[in-house]
Amino acid sequence: MNHQEVGRYWNENAEVWTRLARAGYDVYRDQLNTPAFFALLPDVSGQRGLDLGCGEGHNTRLLARRGACMTGIDIAEVFIGHAQASETAEPLGIRYLHGSAVSLPFGDAEFDFATGCMSFMDIPETDRLLAEAYRVLKPGGFLQFSITHPCFDTPYRRNLRKDGITYAVEVGDYFHRQDGEISEWIFGAAPASLIAGVPKFKIPRFNRTISQWLNLLVAAGFILERVEEPRPSDEAARQWPYIQDAQVVAYFIHFRVRKPVAADAER
Ligand SMILES: C[S@@+](CC[C@H](N)C(=O)[O-])C[C@H]1O[C@@H](n2cnc3c(N)ncnc32)[C@H](O)[C@@H]1O
Repeated sequence: MNHQEVGRYWNENAEVWTRLARAGYDVYRDQLNTPAFFALLPDVSGQRGLDLGCGEGHNTRLLARRGACMTGIDIAEVFIGHAQASETAEPLGIRYLHGSAVSLPFGDAEFDFATGCMSFMDIPETDRLLAEAYRVLKPGGFLQFSITHPCFDTPYRRNLRKDGITYAVEVGDYFHRQDGEISEWIFGAAPASLIAGVPKFKIPRFNRTISQWLNLLVAAGFILERVEEPRPSDEAARQWPYIQDAQVVAYFIHFRVRKPVAADAER
């Protein structure tokens, strides 16, 4: 499956995803990943940033509110429509484009930084994606992205629970490479009444092992700068029991990598 076919699935998911995420049911994003992502983010004020796979623009808006001059790109037209509608209603100076992160419509070295919030694991052409991110960054610019954790979001996974509390997670098939196998789910924190009759998301999966991710980053020319594995605090897990299982294993991993300052001379 290629990125364009993947995009058609995401376009089908986008309407319901936007409605439920905006109603607060993307709890892993809002209560775990986004706070961790922004804690890791360097100062971006006054910088030109590109959000790859921006979806309906939630994190792009947060980046703009930190003072960055943002461009968001997504392969799903419906997501871009919702992102643009928010921009029109409450302008933050964000430019949204419908397109693929695998083939970016920008010149070389146009951006000071790039981000990808939970989008890179959904793109099959990882090498082309990273090469494009590298190309559009200025030398010295950084790329920060979050993905589902390759070691714990494996093709086989089962939560082991006692009294409703996850105490372990069984994982397997780590080395089985998925090429667009469809995973069907919906935000589990949403009330049953809200999701009754609503089609589940259909998400093509493309897992990479942790060494494959690291080697792809190195092959693209990036320097590894920071890695984080967000874990909810006890207080967050009490308030949002839905994310308690992310205290047991790391469901997500965040990377910050940098294009070397002398990049043009070296490559
Ligand atoms: C899990 S959603 C995350 C959306 C958003 N970043 C957020 O944090 O809410 C993954 C996003 O990646 C987008 N996507 C998938 N393949 C893409 C590609 N080749 N180029 C750009 N966006 C892509 C999807 O359309 C979707 O919006």
